Amino acid sequence: MSETSIFVTQQLPPGGVELLSSSGHTAQMRGETWPIPRHELLTAVPGLGGLVCMLTDRVDADVLNAAGPGLRVVANMAVGMDNIDLVAARERGIRVTNTPGVLTDATADLAFSLLLSLARRIPEGDRMVREGRWRGWAPTLLLGADLVGQTLGIVGAGRIGTAMARRAAGFGMRVVHASRGEHPEVGPRLELEELLASSDFVSLHCPLTEATRHLIDADRIKLMKQTSYLINTARGPVVHEPALIEALRSGRIAGAAFDVFDGEPAVNPGLLDLPNVVLAPHVGSATFRTRERMARMVLEDAFAVLEGREPRYPVV
Ligand code: DGY
Repeated sequence: MSETSIFVTQQLPPGGVELLSSSGHTAQMRGETWPIPRHELLTAVPGLGGLVCMLTDRVDADVLNAAGPGLRVVANMAVGMDNIDLVAARERGIRVTNTPGVLTDATADLAFSLLLSLARRIPEGDRMVREGRWRGWAPTLLLGADLVGQTLGIVGAGRIGTAMARRAAGFGMRVVHASRGEHPEVGPRLELEELLASSDFVSLHCPLTEATRHLIDADRIKLMKQTSYLINTARGPVVHEPALIEALRSGRIAGAAFDVFDGEPAVNPGLLDLPNVVLAPHVGSATFRTRERMARMVLEDAFAVLEGREPRYPVV
């Protein structure tokens, strides 16, 4: 491949495909819906100038070494960067870009949908109707939680956490957060332990780092109210899933919703048969408009670096 060639690891939405084909760059898009197997990624990268990758692609020193010295940019179609070895990229002088801001509202919408689904037991009701188990209106059927006056605890008041807080305010919820800085527009800042003990809903919005891996573990889950719910749209490993499953089984907390899983797409089998759990297949940013914009951002930044310009969304 020529030095300026670009490889895209998965099928992009139509706007991205058009932009790629009209760019004048030598480019190849793997036209598959699902993530690229590791061996295929390692085979595809030698000689590349630009790699457009997904959050499911582990871009570590092995991939960068396999690509060779011509690799100038890794453009990640995600805001989370935990799949990329940023130190290894920096050491090799490779630029890394991501897609901040554009997926904020879509992801907060999904997180709030999960919160509502849990509170009002929508998936349980859906299953009951489809399976023919519904026998009519009943004063005690599928009772859930009110939102008005309840406390939402946001862990990580960045862009998405702040957008989640705005949605909660519209539903009359009180919002608190546990974050590094003060965010008066979100609500009072609490220590994480205090937030867990006082929230009716806890929503995770922090990046995955060594500091946040298993942040929500057995000891911290024990602090939560028995009537509370946990929503994870951040990254799977932020939660110690076996501890959470145990808490859900024993009624230690009321329920949980996940858009992300430790080791996804594998899902801990312990989650699958719990009625008080809502599961989504990592679709936080999955709207037509958001994915079109994400595709455009990664491609334009890859083109920029390869054409000797500064990318708009640099991480490295
Ligand atoms: C991200 O961009 O990090 C999200 O998880 C994508 O849905």
